Amino acid sequence: MGIQFDANTRTFTLQTARTTYQMRVDERGRLLHLYYGRRIGQGDLGALYPPADHGFSPDYYPCRLRRGVSPDVLPQEYTGCNVGDFRLSCLVVRDADGAAGADFFYQSHEIAPGKYTLEGLPCAHDEDSEAETLSIRMRDPVTGLTLELLYGVFAHQDVVTRAVRLHNDGSAPLRLEKAASLCLDLPFGEWDLVHFHGRHAMERRMERAPLPHAVTTVSSTRGASSHHHNPFVILCDHEATEDHGLCYGVMPVYSGSHRTDVEVDQNGLTRVVTGLHDERFSWLLEPGESFTAPEVLLCCSAGGLGDLSRHYHTFLRRNICRSPFRYARRPVLINNWEATYFTFTTDTICRIAEKAASLGVEMMVLDDGWFGKRDDDNSGLGDWFVNEKKLPGGLRPLIERVNALGMKFGLWVEPEMVSEDSDLYRAHPDWALTLPGRDPAMGRNQLVLDMSRPEVVDYLTDRLGTLLAENHIEYIKWDMNRNMSDVYSRALPPERQGEAGHRYMLGVYRLLDRLTSRFPDVLFEGCAGGGGRFDAGMLCYFPQIWCSDNTDAIERLVIQHGTSFGYPVSAMGAHVSACPNHQTGRTVPLWTRAVVAMSGTFGYELDLGRLTQEECDQVRAQIETFKRYYDVIQNGAYYRLSDPARQPRYVAWQTVTGTESLVSVVLTHPEGNARPLHFCLQGLEEDALYQLDELHVYGIAVTPESGHAAADACGAVYSGSALLYAGLTLPPMIGDAPSLQLHLTRLP
Ligand code: DGJ
Repeated sequence: MGIQFDANTRTFTLQTARTTYQMRVDERGRLLHLYYGRRIGQGDLGALYPPADHGFSPDYYPCRLRRGVSPDVLPQEYTGCNVGDFRLSCLVVRDADGAAGADFFYQSHEIAPGKYTLEGLPCAHDEDSEAETLSIRMRDPVTGLTLELLYGVFAHQDVVTRAVRLHNDGSAPLRLEKAASLCLDLPFGEWDLVHFHGRHAMERRMERAPLPHAVTTVSSTRGASSHHHNPFVILCDHEATEDHGLCYGVMPVYSGSHRTDVEVDQNGLTRVVTGLHDERFSWLLEPGESFTAPEVLLCCSAGGLGDLSRHYHTFLRRNICRSPFRYARRPVLINNWEATYFTFTTDTICRIAEKAASLGVEMMVLDDGWFGKRDDDNSGLGDWFVNEKKLPGGLRPLIERVNALGMKFGLWVEPEMVSEDSDLYRAHPDWALTLPGRDPAMGRNQLVLDMSRPEVVDYLTDRLGTLLAENHIEYIKWDMNRNMSDVYSRALPPERQGEAGHRYMLGVYRLLDRLTSRFPDVLFEGCAGGGGRFDAGMLCYFPQIWCSDNTDAIERLVIQHGTSFGYPVSAMGAHVSACPNHQTGRTVPLWTRAVVAMSGTFGYELDLGRLTQEECDQVRAQIETFKRYYDVIQNGAYYRLSDPARQPRYVAWQTVTGTESLVSVVLTHPEGNARPLHFCLQGLEEDALYQLDELHVYGIAVTPESGHAAADACGAVYSGSALLYAGLTLPPMIGDAPSLQLHLTRLP
């Protein structure tokens, strides 16, 4: 395993436990991609690509007589610019004459233990010293542009990370107009594209379709990874299922505007190019300067979509999240947002906290509205000073009262934004992104701060740092409630305006790095109007991210299902909220709401004072249940047991550790004269014995039969193989959105 270089054939082979990645420096010095897929040996695969003369595919100049060696046909490791490959390109670079051109030739390489880091950008870390780094240096002789291709090989995890550094070693300035992070050529095979689209409050809906002979784009120009197109795509073979088939995952570690293009070319080769979005992007590279394109996490699995997801879950938690909380049990929280919105005082919050503490909740989170002049969402952003009309004496008396209840205290902030009606904006109108001479587009009546300016990042470091240092705050919810338009920085010269969008992200990352390093004991949760920035870049700083502003449990099933393809349960912020639900008006049984929220970080977001005694008893029991099942939910391997396209009646999922398993089911579409629900479990050991020791059916209209069936089933012992292959039939369920949890313990 690891990285091998065969000096005779100049072939690089990256071996992981179950995959092989291979490339070769050809006779002319260009780097060809040879293979990525199931593990094979080290042999040179150059023979897979014999010379073939294709009309209208130009040859390299030295091959003009022999013909048939075309950059437009051969699989590439990273493309040049304007030199004969008409497929998707990775790079557009212009020299001082305005000529766009680059053709890279191998210079040298280095193989080193450990994982490279990227200056100013989040990326995978390797604290267990299990990774190796390959760095290949290529050079364009005309411009002097050096291309450094970086590969981090996490052999045991079947993950290969990639990133790119471009360095101007020439004597004249260069302008990058596109600088992607990765080109992945799959020369053979036909693929489905799986991606995760949506909108505010309806994020990460999984969509799967065969790739056409065209370019398909998944992208965001919003200055955020977005609710609309998550920066994660999967290519899988047409027959791939949850537990079968070849799949490739491509996940940029980036939270700003991104773009992934997938092209099926004239010969059936599939090319994926991913990285920063190039719209309005332009980066001036003076001689001696470097530019680093964000990292991308590649994973390949022959074990189907489920196996690919579990690889990402483990990797993100272990090698992307840096927070000390990534494996810790997070407190069950109550958030006041849907309980009070902007209308509260210290007493209101304490009343919620008292009730919550009596039911077992462990942390009180104060959401939007505690600062500046903030009685609605039209003003106050930027003024991160306590509003003493609402909270007399500041945060301290409130926190003391919350702590006296035995609860932790958490706080909401939205640091990257400013309201026109705020002291910060009045003092520094030039700190907002606005175009000269134009009225800016307003999102939620707020503007975006110019995070590309170091003084803005310094100001926020100081203000938020003081807030955290002076108060006993144990959790921060970091929100971002509009997308970025009018991108123009008053601090950058005209020739660098195309850098503003990416420099914004670098500023955000610098701020997050400073605060999370200085306050390692604070649990940070990311948020962007729900899940508008749910990506691997943010997970480097935030171990959890609020999934969606849609708290309707039935909608959340779809959102969490889509999210689970790339991201672990431990990252999904999820709360039980009030019914009728504030977003959809739907009523779902309280227990079902909890079953769904438990498959995330778990908390509450409603006025507990309005619950009946019976409902309060349910909440207490839910928290006990969550704590009892905590290990299997949060640390277990995650299996999707249903596919909304194939099983529209219910959603089911399962988590498995070496000692236990939990199956959760929500019946979304009850039917008359209902057929029993039956399915096979996953992830169990064939030869082990499992005792079904808990079976709970929850819902407003649970039939007497289901209660009897549940009681009768408890205590039964099954072999792993019986549960895997013969499966289980569930007790009958009717009513609006009943649910079920079934717990198995592996017998010693
Ligand atoms: C959007 C978030 O997603 C909500 O949970 C809440 O914090 C509001 N912003 C507050 O303005």
